[in-house]
Amino acid sequence: MAPKSKVKEGEIWAIGGGKGGTGKTFITSSAGTYLARKGRQVVLVDMDIGGANLHTFFGISRPQKSLTSFFEMGASLGDLVVPTEMPNMSLITGDIHSMASDKITFSQKLKLFRQIMKLNAQTVLVDLGAGSHNNTLDTFLIADKMIVVLVPEVIAIENMYHFIKNSLFRKVKMTLKEYGFKEIVQHIWDRRQSYGIVNLKELIDYLRESFSYIGTILDHELSSFQIHLVLNMVRNNQDVQLGASIKSVMMKYLGIPIHYSGYVEYSDAVWKSVRERKPFMLNYLATGCAKEIEILTENLIKSADIDIPGVA
Ligand SMILES: Nc1ncnc2c1ncn2[C@@H]1O[C@H](COP(=O)(O)OP(=O)(O)OP(=O)(O)O)[C@@H](O)[C@H]1O
Ligand SMILES: [Mg+2]
Repeated sequence: MAPKSKVKEGEIWAIGGGKGGTGKTFITSSAGTYLARKGRQVVLVDMDIGGANLHTFFGISRPQKSLTSFFEMGASLGDLVVPTEMPNMSLITGDIHSMASDKITFSQKLKLFRQIMKLNAQTVLVDLGAGSHNNTLDTFLIADKMIVVLVPEVIAIENMYHFIKNSLFRKVKMTLKEYGFKEIVQHIWDRRQSYGIVNLKELIDYLRESFSYIGTILDHELSSFQIHLVLNMVRNNQDVQLGASIKSVMMKYLGIPIHYSGYVEYSDAVWKSVRERKPFMLNYLATGCAKEIEILTENLIKSADIDIPGVA
């Protein structure tokens, strides 16, 4: 897969999480608007292949340009950037012809990643679709900041766990593929019971212990595998505290650190702004949600955790 790289001087943030309808697009549009208001040059990319709707959050009903031109006519990504009403913020509209994610060829994917990395922006925010398709995972993995949006529901937690686990497993396999170890990793995982391995953390530990130079490679590559968690649609303090449990579960079963960046309460103002097709962070600035988005975006910038009593 494409090497990690920078967007010029800036960063790529990818917003995913597995489950549909958790607020990924809302968080992408709101965090992007906040960053642009702070003066950062921002480009939002709608990579929800088959379900693109980021443009709707900016009141654009019929995009003039979209990723369809990239996939079907070989247009360059830079030519598909359109301005929004917000200074400093532009948008690349998703494929609006409902193209299936698995129709993207490997070479198209590499070309897309190379061009995302070359976009002229300080921060590129990539809105991902639901699910754990390999194309979605690969897009998540090229990001400098891997952000998951979760709602406090059991199914969403399960989906998010699988999304992060699949991303990590893919990262391990792709890293070791370069050293001829990809098949071995899959082989051991498929027979994990006979190896006494019960989770991905134990697989990684096993690889580290059994092949010392693999350990060095994994230590290096996985040091950047840090997830930033946003809890959306929280309704009470118990929901807010969930971030702490997620942190410890991820460390225990996957061995990876999670930054609990922040949360956004459930609010009618959000669906109102979507219905009105007006950017939330321009029209509902006085709400608690807007303040929470500011806090979580500041934490994302700093890779910091939200300060909540009782959350370590
Ligand atoms: N904090 C919130 N409070 C109330 N409603 C919310 C909140 N966040 C999002 N919503 C509502 O949830 C719906 C889904 O949001 P959004 O489209 O951002 O989710 P998504 O994760 O991008 O979905 P998909 O997986 O389909 O791409 C929207 O209609 C929005 O109005
Ligand atoms: Mg979405």
